[in-house]
Amino acid sequence: MATRHFLTLMDASPEELSNLIQRAITIKNALKVEGPTYTPFPNHTMAMIFEKSSTRTRVSFETAMAHFGGHALFLSPRDTQLGRGEPIGDTARVLSEMVDIVMIRTFSHAGLEAYASASSVPVINALTDDYHPCQLLADVMTWTELRGSVRGKTAVWIGDGNNMCHSWINAARQFDFRLRICCPEGYEPRQDILAAAGDRVTILRDPAEAVSGADLVTTDVWASMGQEEEQAKREAAFAGFQVTEALLDRAQDDALFLHCLPAHRGEEISETLLDDPRAVVWQEAGNRLHAQKALIEFLLLGQVDD
Ligand code: CP
Ligand code: NVA
Repeated sequence: MATRHFLTLMDASPEELSNLIQRAITIKNALKVEGPTYTPFPNHTMAMIFEKSSTRTRVSFETAMAHFGGHALFLSPRDTQLGRGEPIGDTARVLSEMVDIVMIRTFSHAGLEAYASASSVPVINALTDDYHPCQLLADVMTWTELRGSVRGKTAVWIGDGNNMCHSWINAARQFDFRLRICCPEGYEPRQDILAAAGDRVTILRDPAEAVSGADLVTTDVWASMGQEEEQAKREAAFAGFQVTEALLDRAQDDALFLHCLPAHRGEEISETLLDDPRAVVWQEAGNRLHAQKALIEFLLLGQVDD
């Protein structure tokens, strides 16, 4: 059987993804009651290759493997041969001989695909310049936990058409909800990713109009990792795209606010937005652990019934 990878949300079917979200909720609830007693992967190892910084992703994957009875290895290009030019295909073949699963956070999505094509163990995208699918598992899980089925609902993305935005577009396709993207001109998501989603995803320019009647609002930093030198230019371009409590007031009364974090208060969100009860970002961050446990289980065992 071909090795199953998770490089974007399109690598699983809508049914598999829905089951995965339900499974994540089950795993979370069992952890609360029983503690980390479910240990399906003793002596298994996950290699975690990080070419960009991380708090949530590293801690959630490492904790997931510890809870599962396995072990995670943090690998940085600073102190592996990857940083000295060993080809990624060679690294993939070597790690495939030793570990059970790999997660990679890197810049180039094509580089991730090249790694995966040489790997005989499952590879997880832990963020590239183009996608962040693991975050969307946690985000859809959080939305589902708090509001039930997301099908037919309306989410609004305010800000940069970046990796998170692309994964929100894929989520709209796979979980069948509507997505309004509100971005300044010149900061749209990639046209091919947008076109593939059809008319369930629309582009708007006015945040107040975009948020009107929405079920969920989300945003992200204006300058992503690797774009630090564009910070000033982006602050000017995104002025007027800050998410505030007053903007959220235009959404449904029971609307939720998500942010993948880290957040820049005073830039893409107001200083106090994360204190608003509609902001459920701590639960969202915690759900990275549970959603990724369900993902690891799915890739190593196939779909597990609840
Ligand atoms: N949201 C997210 O991926 O956070 P980290 O960069 O801290 O992993
Ligand atoms: N768009 C952000 C997400 C961080 C989790 C970045 O790529 O830096």
